[in-house]
Amino acid sequence: MSTTPGHATGAAAPTSSPFPADFLWGTATAAYQIEGAAAEGGRGPSIWDTLSRVPGAVVNGDTGDVACDHYHRWAEDVDHLARLGVGGYRLSISWSRVQPGGSGPLNPEGVEFYRNLLDALRERGITPYVTLYHWDLPQELEDAGGWANRDTAYAFAQYARAMATELGDRVEMWTTLNEPWCSAYLGYASGVHAPGRTEPAAALAAVHHLNLAHGLAVRAIREVLPAAKCSVTLNLHVLRPASGSAADADALRQIDGLANRVFLGPLLDGEYPADVLADTASVSDWSFVQDGDLEITRQPLDVLGVNYYSTTRVRRFTGEGEPVRADGHKTTTVSPWVAADDVEFLPLPGPHTAMGWNVEPAGLTELLLDLHRTYPDLPLAVTENGASFEDTVVEDPALGIARVHDLARVAYLRDHVAAVADAIAAGADVRGYFAWSLMDNFEWAYGYSKRFGMLHVDYPTGERTWKNSAYWYARLVRTGRIPGVFEAQPA
Ligand code: FCB
Repeated sequence: MSTTPGHATGAAAPTSSPFPADFLWGTATAAYQIEGAAAEGGRGPSIWDTLSRVPGAVVNGDTGDVACDHYHRWAEDVDHLARLGVGGYRLSISWSRVQPGGSGPLNPEGVEFYRNLLDALRERGITPYVTLYHWDLPQELEDAGGWANRDTAYAFAQYARAMATELGDRVEMWTTLNEPWCSAYLGYASGVHAPGRTEPAAALAAVHHLNLAHGLAVRAIREVLPAAKCSVTLNLHVLRPASGSAADADALRQIDGLANRVFLGPLLDGEYPADVLADTASVSDWSFVQDGDLEITRQPLDVLGVNYYSTTRVRRFTGEGEPVRADGHKTTTVSPWVAADDVEFLPLPGPHTAMGWNVEPAGLTELLLDLHRTYPDLPLAVTENGASFEDTVVEDPALGIARVHDLARVAYLRDHVAAVADAIAAGADVRGYFAWSLMDNFEWAYGYSKRFGMLHVDYPTGERTWKNSAYWYARLVRTGRIPGVFEAQPA
């Protein structure tokens, strides 16, 4: 690993930029987390509207009904992006806003919302990266079996085709799926995410149907727009064994299969890893993989999107006591790790964010370099990276404005941006970095209790306040060099 630990010391950053001149700096959001207006403008319900109404499913009973009210405040949010100076913005389309039932007629009002937003971004010179599926499946499709049903993959391809037709070259990069790992395993195995099902066999079917959906959608988009750039975003897990034992190495192999290779294999190599099929044979015979599917799943990609937050430590369960399940996600009685109940997930040393996730920037360098070594011709982009911390808004009497002194978030971003620079210096082809998130938002099962934004959102009023991290990021984008923590001030 090439990462130098010196970045955490606050040492002065070099004056010349470690990033290519055309490196794309951006921020990211997702539709259900920010839009609100859940029942407005002809939008139909999604699985998150449904799950968030199940008592106990989301902290404080929060829902995305109003969220950041981005549906009404989008023009102001585009102004914030322009003020940040970012060259890119990663957003997602709410499928049930543009096609309420998930199949059948489009909702013109919903399509118009995205057309206006994309036009406003382009007018400001901000390149849109558009994710078609950031976890908000139309409820009607879930009622018909959701991602466990093969038909959902074909419905997704129809929706992708419709978006390519309607939005065309307004979109610079089409990202099919965001983190299918979460959709499949958190949605269908542990059930902490929508649709909240606890059926491990369905989770494996969902894995395959998501992979299939990706391939069908890329094909459909390119049929409409032959020059379209396409990508997928994965939350690849950077794994650490608890010891040097053969048993822990095997636990790592097993989790690497379920977390990483079950997506990378079909999407980039056109095959499912034999060991994953063997490991999960007690749960599924994988007969849902049909002839020809693996030619569809593997489509040429313009970029692989990488979301990175922390690392994961695994150990083969010795059988004594209760297995430790500290994998960074909420737990239920069913593990998201299908057929891996004998693998433990151990806490990692700190520092930790408010999510309890360990902070390890070197893991990002390692991940980017590993991917580059395995897929040397595939450009990479960090499509999410960021941190949740407790934030406090204070008045700044000198400047007469509200401030949020989020130094821990600034340090997190600084160290991870430096980790990307390390990967680039060591040869990785990384094209962009999107900070998660532009603004505080609905953090899924944690509701509004966890804040990841560079802009603070006061939920009762919707007011946005720039945190120090926003000032810091604007400076990074403007200068192309990595500012120090104390440069995070209004310019
Ligand atoms: C990722 C999700 C994103 C956000 C961050 C914190 O897994 O893609 O929507 O919740 O985590």
